[in-house]
Amino acid sequence: MAKPKVYITRQIAQKALDMIAQVTEMKVWSEELPPPREVLLAEAQNVDGMLTLLTDKIDATLMEAAPRLKVISNLAVGYDNIDVPEATRHGIVVGNTPEVLTETTADFAFALLMAAARHVAEADAFTRKGRWKTWEPMVMLGQDIHHATLGIVGLGRIGMEIAKRAKGFNMKVLYYDAIRRSEEEERQFGIEHIPELSTLLSQSDFISLHTPLTPQTHHLIGAAQFAIMKPTAILVNTSRGPVVDQKALYEALKSRQIFAAAIDVTEVEPIPPDDPLLTLDNIIISPHIASASVITRTNMATMAAENLIAGLSGQIPPNCVNPEAIKG
Ligand code: DGY
Repeated sequence: MAKPKVYITRQIAQKALDMIAQVTEMKVWSEELPPPREVLLAEAQNVDGMLTLLTDKIDATLMEAAPRLKVISNLAVGYDNIDVPEATRHGIVVGNTPEVLTETTADFAFALLMAAARHVAEADAFTRKGRWKTWEPMVMLGQDIHHATLGIVGLGRIGMEIAKRAKGFNMKVLYYDAIRRSEEEERQFGIEHIPELSTLLSQSDFISLHTPLTPQTHHLIGAAQFAIMKPTAILVNTSRGPVVDQKALYEALKSRQIFAAAIDVTEVEPIPPDDPLLTLDNIIISPHIASASVITRTNMATMAAENLIAGLSGQIPPNCVNPEAIKG
């Protein structure tokens, strides 16, 4: 019997490619940049499965053009690049990669928090530029992390790991989430539910965003929200860029309405080189690498391979966001 055909939109860990190669006829796009739209559309026409990244837009047009497509396996926990209701209508199952990246992403979010609070990136640049002339009592003064208040927006898996890290720094942890944790969990992890986002924003020294991108969370943080933050506040975003109104972020940082920000995601990725945010000294911007450890990226790739292979054989992938796509 002919093997199913799959298209993989970027070079991924060899271990995952080996798994896929055993059971499929696969084609890998191995350029540095994502496949252009016309390539993606052309490749989709003849395949049974696709392994995609968050840089690939998988919408109704693509699915219309892909009569054989049974499974889309996204190499990410987030899947806002995929029109999932449309996939469900087409009977296409969509897989994602939760859990394997939770702690790695939380580690990085915490690293950004610390780096922004204590000028880590700026201090390194300062030293390299030869500006370290003496020990100066009033230079590079940052914000304390220990005993500060951390506000977590979205207490899912990653948010919870941030809370655990914060406890190691004796921080007070507040959280805002539509789903409230049980009293036992709140006690165990020392977290306090705040029913109003505005209350959390006004009380927090650090605000870390961990919501998925949905129509409800688009520009969740904008001018009105910056206006109620403390002037010493630090915003960390490792979720999705459009959760923050980037123009409002620029204004808040430039006018020192807040102290600093550290973001791993931007509204447009990659951030355009002329974006005004890049002119500011109180923001750290990393290129969407929060899950980028050797082990985690390998685990994400093998999980995506498992999802792909299961979907090809008509099963619900082990990590599937729309099991209802397979009827009965
Ligand atoms: C995801 O998985 O959604 C991250 O943004 C990339 O690891």
